[in-house]
Amino acid sequence: MIDTPASLATPYRSHTCGALRAIDAGSAVRLAGWVHRRRDHGQLIFLDLRDRHGITQVVIDAADAPTAHAAATAARSEFVVTVAGTVARRLPGTENAKLPTGDIEVQATSFTILNEAKTPPFYINDPDAPVDEALRLKYRYLDIRREPMQQRLLLRSRLVQAIREVHHANGFVEVETPNLIKSTPEGARDFIVPSRLQPGSVYALPQSPQQLKQLLMVAGVDRYFQIARCFRDEDLRGDRQPEFTQLDLEMSFVDEAAVMDFVEAMVIAVSKSVVPDRPIQQAPFPRFTYDAAVERFGSDKPDLRFGMELVDLAQDLCAADGTPSSGFRVFDEAIAAGHRVKAIAVPGLADAPRSRIDELTETARRFGAKGLAHLAIEADGSIKSPIVKFLGDDLAGRLAARAGATSGDLVLIVADTTDLTNDVLGRLRADLGVRLGLVDPDVLAYCWVHRFPMYKWDADGARWDATHNPFSGVVPEDEALLTTISGDPTRPSPDDPAGRARAMQYDIALNGWELGGGSVRIWRHDLLERSFALQGYSEARMRNMFGAILDAFEYGAPPHGGIALGIDRWAALLAYQTNIREVMAFPKTQSGNDPMLDAPSEPDPTQYADLGLQFVGISGKSA
Ligand code: AMO
Ligand code: AMP
Repeated sequence: MIDTPASLATPYRSHTCGALRAIDAGSAVRLAGWVHRRRDHGQLIFLDLRDRHGITQVVIDAADAPTAHAAATAARSEFVVTVAGTVARRLPGTENAKLPTGDIEVQATSFTILNEAKTPPFYINDPDAPVDEALRLKYRYLDIRREPMQQRLLLRSRLVQAIREVHHANGFVEVETPNLIKSTPEGARDFIVPSRLQPGSVYALPQSPQQLKQLLMVAGVDRYFQIARCFRDEDLRGDRQPEFTQLDLEMSFVDEAAVMDFVEAMVIAVSKSVVPDRPIQQAPFPRFTYDAAVERFGSDKPDLRFGMELVDLAQDLCAADGTPSSGFRVFDEAIAAGHRVKAIAVPGLADAPRSRIDELTETARRFGAKGLAHLAIEADGSIKSPIVKFLGDDLAGRLAARAGATSGDLVLIVADTTDLTNDVLGRLRADLGVRLGLVDPDVLAYCWVHRFPMYKWDADGARWDATHNPFSGVVPEDEALLTTISGDPTRPSPDDPAGRARAMQYDIALNGWELGGGSVRIWRHDLLERSFALQGYSEARMRNMFGAILDAFEYGAPPHGGIALGIDRWAALLAYQTNIREVMAFPKTQSGNDPMLDAPSEPDPTQYADLGLQFVGISGKSA
């Protein structure tokens, strides 16, 4: 990676603090930066001078440069200084192999303090010093001075640059869409902005540019992309912020394969450019249908860096005629009820103590399971488990073999409804795979999950909710399923064929995180109306929410589809981070605060008046 072009010279510096090498010995130079470290040996003062590009050692000798020496005596950590001097090779044995500039030093002839600095609230020159995150966020500008944050922001910048290059090379047009818009629902709450010119009305900040990018397809832009800021008022987690960035793209005259193929090639090119040393586990990326992903991994964002797949035990638990016959009540009742009994084989956990098993059971319960059965495969192949007394040795052995377990493994079994069984085992799998160190941290395991169900039955609303995007298209062979038993889309029921329809929806996952999601859209008016009716949108509500798109679709909408990838998540995973805050310059805390700017904060009294606003029922906050 080269990030120190020679042209960074300014009146304050001829070179950056990362530029000088042995070959420059004898040159007169000027450097500027922050005092990283200062060692005062009386006659000689050594200063490590730091800027974004590196660190250079400066020596100020009282005998050679008394004025400079006097000035340098007053310098302290994080003072901003500029130094003029001559580059000299360091004496043999005093080179610093850890620094690219470690073969040289600058012997100062002049030294000027440009600005003083208070003692920072944490060490800036020690990348490993643990610092409380609240303090880091309050003094983010100092945190960003530190090496780890610098590297992560540089990586993010390279990521966005690589993304732009690939898109421009493939005929995409970068278009900025507005942030003061009308609600674009993506399943979260909107942030709203009151209008001063139209008191009583609000703009919504976009949850994504979804509708606008579809309108750009109607407009004939053909291929659009944007590094788009999105806003979602939802509960925060490690992979979620209220304000985040998407790589948002949309393409015309495409089917599912065309979008997935482009995105896959783009993701590979960008990964190779940004982190060339990190291996991509498999390309072409594995593609799973949603059903297969959930059956095998218990997740629609499977971590493929390790195995531990979910295995169905039903066939070993039933007699030839299909009746449950395991002898263990919990399993037999589950099978009789049409539920599932599935397992994962956890490597190396056979000798887990009781407390560890209890902890796993507690975790499973927290995920919603009623219990967690286990079989430990001892070194001699025998099976230890409180339920062997019900199953018998023979069946216990067959179940362990079915689960793929060998000596030393622990088989974890859940009996419950299909959804719960898959979900609980999927979460245990994801958790254990990482915690037990079954993953190679360098590997990038991208995969696709597609053919999601179009709808999920909403019992309260008595309607079919779109599982992802209300504009997702239906896979062509399922078109006829977009209907109800009653034949009237406005009278849906949970047994409707619509429940079996699959969407042209695809998600891309990376190392167990959902990286992106998109779909080929419904662009035909007849299908759009049927789909919206199934989703319980009245004509009036449909027009209110999606009027612009519905109008636009009357003027010739091309077949189109796209996707959005979370840039924060991508950058975090490429930078080995588990929280997207680590790759955002100025993120919010868990409770949505910016402790540095002290936001959110109470409006100024004049703003209440201008906007016709009044907060009701919030003490101390109404005008
Ligand atoms: P979706 O809602 O799946 O799709 O979002 C796409 C990607 O955006 C990222 N993301 C987030 N990142 C950080 N914080 C958040 N709160 C957050 N929410 C989402 C994720 C996610 O995969 N308009 C559709 C895309 C399309 O259909 O083209 C959309 O926004 O990485
Ligand atoms: P019980 O008969 O409820 O005491 O359960 C006996 C064992 O089966 C315990 O180890 C429970 O954790 C486990 N168990 C109970 N319910 C389930 C379930 N739904 N799935 C898997 N294991 C269960």
